[in-house]
Amino acid sequence: MTILADDSLCYTPPPLVALSSAFPMPSDRSENPYVLVLYYSRSGSTDAMARQVVRGVSTVSGIDARLRTVPPVSNDCEAITDQVPDDGPTYASQDDLCSCAGLVLGSPTRFGNMAAPLKYFMDQSSELWLSGSLIDKPAAVFTSTSSLHGGQESTLLSMQLPLLHHGMLLVGLPYSEPGMMTTQAGGTPYGASHWAGATGGRSMDATEQELCRALGRRVAELCLRLGAGAGA
Ligand SMILES: Cc1cc2nc3c(=O)[nH]c(=O)nc-3n(C[C@H](O)[C@H](O)[C@H](O)COP(=O)(O)O)c2cc1C
Repeated sequence: MTILADDSLCYTPPPLVALSSAFPMPSDRSENPYVLVLYYSRSGSTDAMARQVVRGVSTVSGIDARLRTVPPVSNDCEAITDQVPDDGPTYASQDDLCSCAGLVLGSPTRFGNMAAPLKYFMDQSSELWLSGSLIDKPAAVFTSTSSLHGGQESTLLSMQLPLLHHGMLLVGLPYSEPGMMTTQAGGTPYGASHWAGATGGRSMDATEQELCRALGRRVAELCLRLGAGAGA
């Protein structure tokens, strides 16, 4: 983690994620409503999925994607962390969550469940729960695993639980998506998934990528159908 000596550097825009120039990241300064793509990734597989979800959101006009991650949890997890990590997207704030039109939440599978850093972030959202800020907003989930049957569905389903407590409207992947019937790896009705292999070296195949994009697109379209941005 870079320690910023000069406070003013805190206002430096976050380093843009390593997306190709053919796909520029939407600006946070846009006045469009946005889908928050919030994820944790330690070795990059869930990160790659998040970028496909962002691409899916970005195919829908009138709504943006906002990519955010969370810091790792450690013995000093209560310390104040820099909002600008060394690389990758900015760490999410509760305000990012509060103001989103929709949410797509991604985590590596950890023993059949979501990873602690993301859970830790969601566990700090009780003020939003009290205010009802997320009620009736669409939400979806995605995960990456090292083994094909290592708990993708259990992770996706358990990631949905806090979102239900927040009153969010859960969005999955319908079987009208062609890849849902043909996939040889990830892709479930509960959300997008990726089989990264034992060493994490298996890249997403075309079907896994398309299902990530389909999920982002679906959440974005539902946000607009539910009136996000209307009257803005
Ligand atoms: C503590 C721990 C628990 C894990 N539990 C599982 C598991 O239950 N099932 C599985 O298939 N992979 C499991 N994995 C592997 C990760 O889910 C997998 O490598 C994932 O693709 C990592 O995503 P990332 O590259 O975004 O960090 C575990 C990894 C760690 C470190």
